[in-house]
Amino acid sequence: MKPYVRGKNIFLREVAVDDADFIVELRTNPAMSKHISATSADVEMQKNYISEYACSQTDFYFVICDWDWRRLGTVRIYDVRGDSFCWGSWILSRNLPIASAAIESALLIYDFGFFALHYLKSHFDVRKANERVVEFHKRFGALIVAEDELNYFFQYDSVVYMNARNKYRRYLP
Ligand SMILES: CC(C)(COP(=O)(O)OP(=O)(O)OC[C@H]1O[C@@H](n2cnc3c(N)ncnc32)[C@H](O)[C@@H]1OP(=O)(O)O)[C@@H](O)C(=O)NCCC(=O)NCCS
Repeated sequence: MKPYVRGKNIFLREVAVDDADFIVELRTNPAMSKHISATSADVEMQKNYISEYACSQTDFYFVICDWDWRRLGTVRIYDVRGDSFCWGSWILSRNLPIASAAIESALLIYDFGFFALHYLKSHFDVRKANERVVEFHKRFGALIVAEDELNYFFQYDSVVYMNARNKYRRYLP
């Protein structure tokens, strides 16, 4: 069965080659791409990227959808290191039909990483200039453990997540 994570107003489904145009549109939109790594506008390249991803044993690339099966964005697990997973490629379209999609998608990726895959920790980096997202992670209790000129490097423990999850459980089914 394909990886599938069921949420309240949204769900995560595994990316497919047919999502390449959606992803390119999302990632090359100037409003959304300011703080993420650059993506080619070439849809064929994106298709190849998705095909290669499918061979990975540890990565999970999800499309965030609502229950009308509309594609709202993406989120991804990658760069697994021991008992810690990295998550990113977190993007949501503007003018979302679901106001809580950001918080719901973060909860679903943590539930998946911690409860389904049984990692104990998570790590991720956020551009310092991406202040809104930096604040988002701090509210969840993530800690900045290092920084360079451009990025903050966060670490997040599953035990801390359990408290956040309790606080935000109204966003879960
Ligand atoms: C990353 C991204 C998906 C986050 O989504 P977002 O909508 O910006 O997230 P927000 O922090 O604004 O949260 C959305 C809403 O939930 C609310 N919210 C967020 N965290 C919350 C919390 N812990 N408790 C209560 N409400 C919360 C916010 O206040 C906001 O509500 P508002 O729209 O009424 O202001 C989005 O900014 C995006 O696509 N950015 C471009 C790509 C990018 O930079 N990705 C991250 C790379 S590290």
